[in-house]
Amino acid sequence: MQDRHARNITYLRLSVTDLCSLRCRYCMPADGVAKREHGDVCSVEELVDIAAAAVDCGVRKVRLTGGEPLVRRGILEICRGISALAGVEELCLTTNAVALSALAKPLREAGVDRLNVSLDTLRPDRFAYMTRTGRLETVLRGLEAAAEAGFTGTKLNVVLMRDFNGDEIPDFVDLARRYPLEVRFIELMPIGQGRNARFLPAEAVLDACPELVPAENSGVARRYRVPGGAGLVGLIEPMSHRFCASCDRIRVTADGRLKPCLHSDQEIPLRGLTGEALRQAIREGVAAKPERHRMAETGHSDAGRNMNQIGG
Ligand code: GTP
Ligand code: 5AD
Ligand code: SF4
Repeated sequence: MQDRHARNITYLRLSVTDLCSLRCRYCMPADGVAKREHGDVCSVEELVDIAAAAVDCGVRKVRLTGGEPLVRRGILEICRGISALAGVEELCLTTNAVALSALAKPLREAGVDRLNVSLDTLRPDRFAYMTRTGRLETVLRGLEAAAEAGFTGTKLNVVLMRDFNGDEIPDFVDLARRYPLEVRFIELMPIGQGRNARFLPAEAVLDACPELVPAENSGVARRYRVPGGAGLVGLIEPMSHRFCASCDRIRVTADGRLKPCLHSDQEIPLRGLTGEALRQAIREGVAAKPERHRMAETGHSDAGRNMNQIGG
């Protein structure tokens, strides 16, 4: 599926809920989000149908997001349904890992190929502060459970925030030295609650760890090898280095609206559509995909939603 800017769209990010088990200050309001009525979010069947239609249109990789996808009732059924679709080459999931110690094995059995885990600090007190509710220990146990269940290629997502975790950059890089993990530092985007925290450019990682050696880039990440280490370090720089020219993705929110671009308020409703009408709506969304975002010029995102309602 080609868009108007000659980009080939092969990657669907499908949000399965906007609820979350944590309350990270840069992502969720303190009191969480109003629980929706049962019918406000797509059913398991609707989500699988949307994924199937996207695959018919050329999507090859599906990533389940949230909120936190593991709090969604029926998550294993959703995974089984999507992994069984012919044409899905990779089914991935981005999680805060809180529920992973219980779910890693069942997720693997339900056909999930790879996990990305969000973790912004390695200090228990900071973790409790940033997430307002969580315990670091639970996440570390979740990561262990993922490895035990046979997951490989796991990536750690660290959102950089000045005055919060800038001093932990060497500790995270050390993790990539000791374990076969890809540790990715992400620039904070001024979207929703993201305006509550202070930006730190990803260049700070190269300043703190000049020993990093450039490696092959992948997706939205500029990557580095850690000399003598098992893993990789990635920099995701939505603010300072635009990667829009090679964007290959579309998003669908938990309430079934296609977002051609993370930072645009354009949304195409998919609910109630099936078969050719659904495929046609997806193609229209791809055709409407903007060339790039304007955050660097305007200082804000036009997403029109909070991060937990889009899934990153
Ligand atoms: P891989 O499949 O492992 O390459 O994962 P991914 O980077 O596509 O997914 P993940 O959910 O781990 O996203 C990592 C970070 O990149 C999150 O903070 C996302 O919000 C951000 N991100 C992902 N895609 C885009 C994008 O298209 N535009 C922008 N601006 N940010 C993105
Ligand atoms: N800027 C950058 N990344 C963010 N995430 C959530 N909010 C923001 C933001 N404002 C990250 C999460 C997770 C990923 C899906 O998006 O930490 O790793
Ligand atoms: Fe793609 Fe929009 Fe993200 Fe740019 S901002 S990389 S066009 S989703």
